Amino acid sequence: MRRNIVHIGAGELSYAIREIVEQATRLEALGVEMAWENIGDPVAKGDRIPGWIKDIVADLVRDDSSYRYCPSRGELATREFLAGRVNARGGAQIGADDILFFNGLGDAVSKVFGFLRREARVIGPSPAYSTHSSAEGAHAGDHPLTYTLDPNRGWQPDLDEMREKVRYNPSIAGILLINPDNPTGVVYSRETLQGVVELAQEFDLFVMCDEVYINITYGGAEAVHLSDVIGDVCGFSLKGISKEIPWPGSRCGWVEFYNRERDPVFERFAQSLLGAKMLEVCSTTLPQRAIPRILGDPRYSGHLAERAQEFERRADEACQVLQDVPGISVNRPQGAFYMTVLFDRDALNDRMVLEIANPEVRVVIDELLEDTTALDFRFVYHLMGATGIVVVPLSSFACAYHGFRITLLECDTARRRSIFETLARSIRDYLASGAPAAASQS
Ligand SMILES: Cc1ncc(COP(=O)(O)O)c(C=O)c1O
Repeated sequence: MRRNIVHIGAGELSYAIREIVEQATRLEALGVEMAWENIGDPVAKGDRIPGWIKDIVADLVRDDSSYRYCPSRGELATREFLAGRVNARGGAQIGADDILFFNGLGDAVSKVFGFLRREARVIGPSPAYSTHSSAEGAHAGDHPLTYTLDPNRGWQPDLDEMREKVRYNPSIAGILLINPDNPTGVVYSRETLQGVVELAQEFDLFVMCDEVYINITYGGAEAVHLSDVIGDVCGFSLKGISKEIPWPGSRCGWVEFYNRERDPVFERFAQSLLGAKMLEVCSTTLPQRAIPRILGDPRYSGHLAERAQEFERRADEACQVLQDVPGISVNRPQGAFYMTVLFDRDALNDRMVLEIANPEVRVVIDELLEDTTALDFRFVYHLMGATGIVVVPLSSFACAYHGFRITLLECDTARRRSIFETLARSIRDYLASGAPAAASQS
């Protein structure tokens, strides 16, 4: 090329959750039966959509208005419905025009970082859901800026560390929270959220909170919304229907802006996202039209409660199988449907193996192992080759810890139990296959 056409942030774009699929499909082609524990799609894992929800969608399919463009901000009646729900909580008060629809939160995240001024950074969690960390890093042309979620405190953020990082890095303009969190399943306490808002107030930052799992909490966790604690600080939350209906294929999510009138720069930024959406005309119409009918239906709260109870049962089950395995630790998730398994410091070394019976599979795994030095990736590849279970290495979540993420999504009880038990056995075998390493893990 006469000019370099590669974006300055191209190297930051990585999404191991899906990248590992390419590698796993090579094993599938060799006849390995795969257990896809990498993707957070409840429907792909057997979740059934209630009949009454399908009836609502079917009615909309028969209505010609569902086939038109909608306003760039999104369907007015839907935005009014959603604004009403925020206002009824009694915290931040918003109007329909404070809501902007996107083609799923993936689209929202890419617009937020795509239209943020290059030098303005957003500090986010580590481990981090890769869409956020990659988009932030790519926007800045640098590694993502992160604060630590502390596994010793149930993965709650370390607010002192966050404060120091914000204090000494004037390029930080915003703080990103994911609540409940992917990949750890932690639900932030009210105090944590208030602490973050206070920090934002002190340093004149905005708060951005991904709340796509806010209606999936259990085990006694209180789901505190950003709107409950934001006060008069500028911020926005990202919400959607991919996980809670669940309808990930709808590609439908939205941003709720809080207090945008309080700061002209924040207001200008919010307007730029609307401008970007206008260039695209609008987001998906039909799912937006379905939202007030589904979320406003008297059966919806029961539907959410049932799903939350089921995830709580599965979280207990996973903990029960994994908590006594030596060399790892697990925290019981209280939200979303993921669990992070963390290897102890020094537990892993590069001599550990799992036996892989099929020689053709062995060749593929050896090839993958040649390309990685990360110790948790080594475990994940061995696990995939030996058992067909596909999980996501923790170090791919912008994180220095070694471990992996599993999901609580498998709906077939016997199969789910067998996956957790196979995992526990594989971890034991893997760790037993090599002597503990001297090198320490940060
Ligand atoms: C924290 C978080 N935010 C956003 C998304 C993507 O949501 P959407 O389907 O609306 O793009 C995911 C998907 O896994 C997620 O885990």
